Amino acid sequence: MSGPVRPAAEGDLPFLSAMERAFFPDGAAEDTLRRMFADGRHVFFVADRGYAWYEFVLDEGYIGNIAVEAEARRQGLGRALTETMIADARDRGLAFLTLEVRQSNAPARALYESCGFAVVGTRRGYYEKPREDALLMTFYF
Ligand SMILES: CC(C)(COP(=O)(O)OP(=O)(O)OC[C@H]1O[C@@H](n2cnc3c(N)ncnc32)[C@H](O)[C@@H]1OP(=O)(O)O)[C@@H](O)C(=O)NCCC(=O)NCCS
Repeated sequence: MSGPVRPAAEGDLPFLSAMERAFFPDGAAEDTLRRMFADGRHVFFVADRGYAWYEFVLDEGYIGNIAVEAEARRQGLGRALTETMIADARDRGLAFLTLEVRQSNAPARALYESCGFAVVGTRRGYYEKPREDALLMTFYF
């Protein structure tokens, strides 16, 4: 199993940065993550084989990234990370949590849908390399 989900500590920043860069073409470097970690608006969670983070502004929540190592998928870790973010956002009194996802990213879309997110819009040509539309998915509290 992938171990429990916990709030990230400063010592997790190298792992977080490695995951960002492994899974996302514009993944955040460690110094960028360090600033985000310290600014009080970004919330990071980690497990042994995955991580997730979101940002909040007033009562609005924006999921940044979530990823689980390829060999550890389909064991419930993505769901645990997503549900942990939802619980944290609820505790903070946020009105919603929202995110963008590639139209072709079936696993992520299925994960979010199963956690209660609904498609609320499309951003045409939002992604590059390759260019693709984003679906906007939102969880309302
Ligand atoms: C999306 C991602 C985080 C899911 O992580 P995971 O640990 O495999 O997800 P879980 O095991 O918790 O799956 C939860 C539910 O999501 C859905 N799901 C996950 N992977 C799926 C797949 N390959 N196909 C269809 N449904 C899938 C299922 O409904 C699943 O529930 P089930 O296993 O009971 O059927 C993982 O695939 C990943 O890291 N992808 C690469 C990075 C990425 O695309 N991140 C999202 C950016 S927006």
